[in-house]
Amino acid sequence: MNLKPLQIGELQIQYPIIQGGMGVGISRSHLAGAVSANGGLGIISTAQIGYDEPDFEKDQEAANLKAVGKHIRVAKEISQGKPVGVNIMVATKDYPAYVRAAVEAGVDAIISGAGLPVKLPEYVGDSGCKIAPIVSSEKAARLMLRGWEKKYQRTADFIVIEGPKAGGHLGFSADNVEKITSEEYDGEIGKIISTVREYEERFSRKIPVIVAGGIFDHEDICHAISLGADGVQIASRFVATEECDADERYKQAYIQAKKEDVEIVMSPVGMPGRALRNAFVKLIEKKPLPVSRCYHCLEKCNPAKVPYCITKALINAVRGDIENGLIFVGDNVGRITKMTNVHDLMMELVQGKQAIPSHH
Ligand SMILES: Cc1cc2nc3c(=O)[nH]c(=O)nc-3n(C[C@H](O)[C@H](O)[C@H](O)COP(=O)(O)O)c2cc1C
Repeated sequence: MNLKPLQIGELQIQYPIIQGGMGVGISRSHLAGAVSANGGLGIISTAQIGYDEPDFEKDQEAANLKAVGKHIRVAKEISQGKPVGVNIMVATKDYPAYVRAAVEAGVDAIISGAGLPVKLPEYVGDSGCKIAPIVSSEKAARLMLRGWEKKYQRTADFIVIEGPKAGGHLGFSADNVEKITSEEYDGEIGKIISTVREYEERFSRKIPVIVAGGIFDHEDICHAISLGADGVQIASRFVATEECDADERYKQAYIQAKKEDVEIVMSPVGMPGRALRNAFVKLIEKKPLPVSRCYHCLEKCNPAKVPYCITKALINAVRGDIENGLIFVGDNVGRITKMTNVHDLMMELVQGKQAIPSHH
């Protein structure tokens, strides 16, 4: 199947593939810039993005906000001006400040999940920055679209539907996430798309729908498009690329992981997450790890009550401390078996099996 470009307002993305934002530090300027340079839409995750900045220990928020601007600029240099987006979790402490920092740096699009970005239109104002909520159910889609219409007389520029096979935090109960079948979820995707179509009519404009979670190859992309989607968001597959911003050991953990190494864990964010069952996960299942230092990363987190500090666990992971870190993965991580680069991966996704790698 020939994939059509993704049109988001005046932004044109050559291939309808968005690289999902991955915190902490997994998708920053190098990965996102490379994806955009190769015809997709690269997404930087702002979650603790400044973790390796010299002033992070002193004032993590100031370091993060500075790093947001820096990474957007670097990504746009790499992409040679092609659109680049950010992913900002609604649960982030001082969420509006991150939105403003991204808009100021000239980001082209903001995708927000881990909560409903009810006030996002207000924070981006009339900057022209494209905005998209991440939803996992028809109910959430309707709530978002109705809320934005009522309060701001506007609608989403695009919408991301994230299913139960995604990596990182999941918009489902821990029970449901493992029970829902692909067929059932395809039905939900259909319902969400119908809801979005109502809003397209009301606003006389196209609202592209992007499907995420467990998309592995060209065939999966075609399947999402056959359901009525305009594009896909893929995250896990981009980890085992040369350009991914994580430590080499993190990428190797993905390559080595088998299907049975994946587990649903509870996160201080208050949502279940999908991660590798490593020494860290086994430890927190037995007893909570006291939080020795709070990074004030989440709007709602009580360090005295949570089973572990998610910022510390994710920073350990991105730095390559594979046993003491929390390694978020998508359900299909077991199918990733080799290292590649963004160009070859994009070509494989776009063309299917006949893709001929340029090098390696
Ligand atoms: C390591 C990792 C970190 C992630 N971090 C975030 C994040 O910070 N914010 C977010 O909205 N989604 C996050 N996600 C979800 C992805 O953006 C994406 O929607 C999802 O993983 C898609 O499924 P796939 O990995 O099967 O392609 C993360 C996923 C992974 C694997």
